Amino acid sequence: LVNYHSNHTGCRYDRRRPVYRVQGRIFIQKNSCPKEPEILRGVLFRPDDILIVTYPKSGTVWMQEIVPLILSQGDPVVVDTVPNWDRVPWLEARAYIQNLDQRPSPRVFITHFQYNMMPTGFLKVKPRVIYVMRNPRDVFTSYLHFSRMASYLVSPGTQTEFLNKFLDGKVIFGSWFDHVKGWLSATEQHIMYISYEEMILDLEASVTRMAQFLDTPLDSEMIRKITDRCVFKNMKKNKMSNYSLMPSTMMDQNVSEFLRKGIAGDWKNHLTAAEAENFDEFYRKHCSTGPPKTFLKK
Ligand code: A3P
Repeated sequence: LVNYHSNHTGCRYDRRRPVYRVQGRIFIQKNSCPKEPEILRGVLFRPDDILIVTYPKSGTVWMQEIVPLILSQGDPVVVDTVPNWDRVPWLEARAYIQNLDQRPSPRVFITHFQYNMMPTGFLKVKPRVIYVMRNPRDVFTSYLHFSRMASYLVSPGTQTEFLNKFLDGKVIFGSWFDHVKGWLSATEQHIMYISYEEMILDLEASVTRMAQFLDTPLDSEMIRKITDRCVFKNMKKNKMSNYSLMPSTMMDQNVSEFLRKGIAGDWKNHLTAAEAENFDEFYRKHCSTGPPKTFLKK
């Protein structure tokens, strides 16, 4: 994976320095969204590529399970035998993934990059994109727990400190608000938008909608099988998807599990009234014409 840590102090995981590295270039986290990162420059997109785009903690691993199962029409061999980071590789991790160009079509990639970071090849070729959004309050809550368990991330500090960083976009992959607004503005691309909450509410309908977008015919038995595999309690057991293959020195699942709660609205159990108010005020200020507010109803 991309090294989200600094090594220029000689310290392998320097939690004090909010920087990350892409192919040897170091980006300060405050400006963690360089235009067209070097790593994307050589990617040769194909028209039948499928790109899953998420802001972190919005359902990335969930999509790494669902989309391969749709493409295999419910055959679980791939999700049972190939770790999610290999079956649906990150564009960010391109340098570490072998033979990307030799992979058969349709290739499926995942990325957290913002829209304005996508390379010209992507804009020209227009591969299909599924963009997943999640209630930012739940994204924040999930991100906080994740930052506590992932040793390669900058220590989040207290909840309030991390909330300020999150709202200011001083976290890996920058501002949630910029991310969502950027991808929602990408009207010329071939994009399907879906929310985490919609998937929680009706996974069967969500799988059906994605299969239609991907031109993959599925009968009701296949849809039922895929849905059953991908509900939280079942997916959590898949060691190819739950990050139990990752050493605990990287992700300490005793601190917080990667597949932690898998619900909508967990923010209510964590944010204080003052923090929730602060969040809402910031949202109103930055998203008056921004993302759909459906996921804020929860
Ligand atoms: P929580 O921390 O709120 O539980 P990402 O993959 O983008 O890092 O997002 C991780 C979040 O998605 C975690 O949220 C995780 O539990 C949730 N998630 C992963 N698989 C899921 C599933 N099958 N159903 C519901 N939520 C899922």
